[in-house]
Amino acid sequence: MDLSTAYLGLALKNPIVVSASPLSKKIDKAKQLEEAGVSAIVMYSLFEEQIIHESLELDYYLTRGTETYAEALTYLPDTGTYSLAPDKYLAQVTALKKALNIPVIGSLNGVSRGGWTRYARLIQDAGADALELNLYYLPTDLDLKGSDLEDAQVELVAEVRSAITIPLAVKLSPFITSLPHFARRIVEAGAGGLVLFNRFYQPDFDLDELEIVHSLDLSTSAEMRLPLRWISILNGKLDVDFALTSGVHTAIDVLKAMMAGAKVSMMASGLLHSGPGLVSTILSDLQGWMQAHEYESIQQMQGSMSQQAVANPAAFERANYMKVLNSFHDLP
Ligand SMILES: Cc1cc2nc3c(=O)[nH]c(=O)nc-3n(C[C@H](O)[C@H](O)[C@H](O)COP(=O)(O)O)c2cc1C
Repeated sequence: MDLSTAYLGLALKNPIVVSASPLSKKIDKAKQLEEAGVSAIVMYSLFEEQIIHESLELDYYLTRGTETYAEALTYLPDTGTYSLAPDKYLAQVTALKKALNIPVIGSLNGVSRGGWTRYARLIQDAGADALELNLYYLPTDLDLKGSDLEDAQVELVAEVRSAITIPLAVKLSPFITSLPHFARRIVEAGAGGLVLFNRFYQPDFDLDELEIVHSLDLSTSAEMRLPLRWISILNGKLDVDFALTSGVHTAIDVLKAMMAGAKVSMMASGLLHSGPGLVSTILSDLQGWMQAHEYESIQQMQGSMSQQAVANPAAFERANYMKVLNSFHDLP
């Protein structure tokens, strides 16, 4: 059974990649994941704010006014952590590379162009095999136009692309008005991979304390439907490698990701919850499923259920919305 796949020009032994998360913060944990069989690891992100404090200041100053700035700062680690974080991050890239045989993908998380992007080059120089750029941003400013935000993000991708020679993947938000067009612009700006999607953590309300609760809930398999749909729609239309992240917990989830057109399926919640043992289970379930369904390789199934390949491409579109709503008959 051939589980191999290729992502960002990296030949991987299987499609299970560790998603950006604290799982790469400890060398022994990363080693355990490698031993359990993951084919590559994306590191936790180094944030623009950790590199250059001023850009955050500017962001809040420009978009929200100074009065909310002091309050916003309380949500961030103290400044001492900032100055140490970038060096520590680079050291961790080198340490992971030394300890592991699988590819290590660095992760930069930022929103604005500027000097901080030189860290893309430093992450490359520290030994990373590729870089993932996470464009995590939550616009709350009524004056900020979608097109302006998109232009800025495309420019940022181009700037990072020009700073490095290793492959570049870009992790996108699902909240884009016209995702296909934006995705094409990101690819034209130099992304060799698109990682769909960022998972936004939603604050909740505590009604007794009248406070905002910051709970980080791990995902469930149901959440993979969003990236599954979009990878299915975009596969074959862009010259780029897709990575699916959000809700991958089982071998069936991995198979769905592959059939949509992803080259790899990334996992964070599942591994944080169940530990490295889950990788061995998924790998053996994958082989079992492939054997039972007479598949010889992962590559032969990649994209087989994408919009371009299925008999009913409208299933991904508006027409299907009406059909599904009308098919609901279980009224009480
Ligand atoms: C505790 C935790 C920390 C994370 N840290 C990062 C990060 O530093 N950078 C990033 O791009 N994504 C980060 N993520 C998002 C994951 O990489 C992933 O995209 C998301 O959790 C969806 O995948 P999952 O359903 O397998 O958890 C984090 C997720 C979790 C749960």
